[in-house]
Amino acid sequence: MARQAYRASIFHLLGDPSDDTAAQYFEDGVLVVEDGYVAEIGAWPEIAPKLDGVPVEHFPDGLIVPGFVDSHVHYPQVDIVASRGSQLLEWLSTYTFPTEARFQHKEVATETARFFLDQLLRNGTTTALVFATVYKDSVDALFAEAQARNMRLIAGKVLMDRNAPAGISDTAETGYQESRALIRAWHGKGRLGYAVTPRFALTSSERQLELAGRLLTEHPGVRLHTHLSENHEELAAVRRMFPDCPDYFAVYEKFGLATPNAVFAHCIHLSPGEWTRFGRSGAAVAFCPVSNLFLGSGLFDLSAAEAAGARVGLGTDVGAGTSLSLFATMSDAYKVCQARRHSLDAAKLFYLATLGGACALGLDDKIGNFERGKEADFVVLDASALPMLARRLAHAASPADRLFALAMLGDDRAVARTYVAGALAYSR
Ligand code: GUN
Ligand code: ZN
Repeated sequence: MARQAYRASIFHLLGDPSDDTAAQYFEDGVLVVEDGYVAEIGAWPEIAPKLDGVPVEHFPDGLIVPGFVDSHVHYPQVDIVASRGSQLLEWLSTYTFPTEARFQHKEVATETARFFLDQLLRNGTTTALVFATVYKDSVDALFAEAQARNMRLIAGKVLMDRNAPAGISDTAETGYQESRALIRAWHGKGRLGYAVTPRFALTSSERQLELAGRLLTEHPGVRLHTHLSENHEELAAVRRMFPDCPDYFAVYEKFGLATPNAVFAHCIHLSPGEWTRFGRSGAAVAFCPVSNLFLGSGLFDLSAAEAAGARVGLGTDVGAGTSLSLFATMSDAYKVCQARRHSLDAAKLFYLATLGGACALGLDDKIGNFERGKEADFVVLDASALPMLARRLAHAASPADRLFALAMLGDDRAVARTYVAGALAYSR
């Protein structure tokens, strides 16, 4: 059996840090990996005597944390990141639809998937829930590249049969057939999973949403991934298009899409009644603060989501988000919550970026922290390449203060190494 130990400071969460015992920090810790899984974690002085010849890599200035989880991101949109415009609907038609049209060419999809996944690893992100495009080939390309990197990834073909240019639209029937073929080809293959992915209520006919619901019942374990309640114009259009539904969430409820396997990005403008039903449905939220600020969509209400009992992860939402880094995302999550008089601490921010995301994606039995038997996806962080952060850390008052500064000031330069299932996948 191949065992390898990694000695550094270690931080992870055993649960939501509203439980005081959930955060675990070892100033001088060791993570023991066996055949790609976590075998042991603890304080170096306690574990070192038992290592018995196991090779040890030592990062004296390093901090090991679980691989980051990006709960909502669009891989074809890396080419339009930071595109100036108005708000959501105009941004979609000006930038998103034309760029996604290029993915009808498999070579564009493959080249972009490679770039995207390499950037995830560079940012310390080892798992993501990903929108591809309407083209089946664009999903095959992404899954093939994720498989080559052995990354745990969930993705799906965009379903979009109305209110989009003809060239990038499917039909209810082709969308259903192609999704089914993709599920058979990729769901549960290695570390990959499938998400049925209607873009949002505005771009799917009732028939398409009905067939999306059918895909979920026909394939237990397959996820549902879409957008919900991001922008006021979007809400008004949903009211016009679905006059028999009392609110936006009711559209997804009507077609059987509001389930514990569902992840809804944004959820900014849900009414109290929608939150209550959302909580009861067991669905999860991807909180995308960078995107929500960039498009001027609004301030997510984390307290309302938590009061409803919803699971919450963080999403970069590139390309409406301007960074693939979960550091940038933690930093803006803090600021959005501050604006709502809710001050998050470092443990909560790292929770949202790791175990919280894993819970939102239904993967917390496999990833998200260093419990024994979990898949060894982890990141070695060090601040030496960021002068401002290094200086700030030298003045840190406590481990919690150090973690908080890291969450606010970190970026891809703080990622020294990324490991996927125990194997080195990126080195700075
Ligand atoms: N709503 C529907 N499609 C999209 C998209 O591509 N990005 C964002 N941010 N919101 C959406
Ligand atoms: Zn999105």
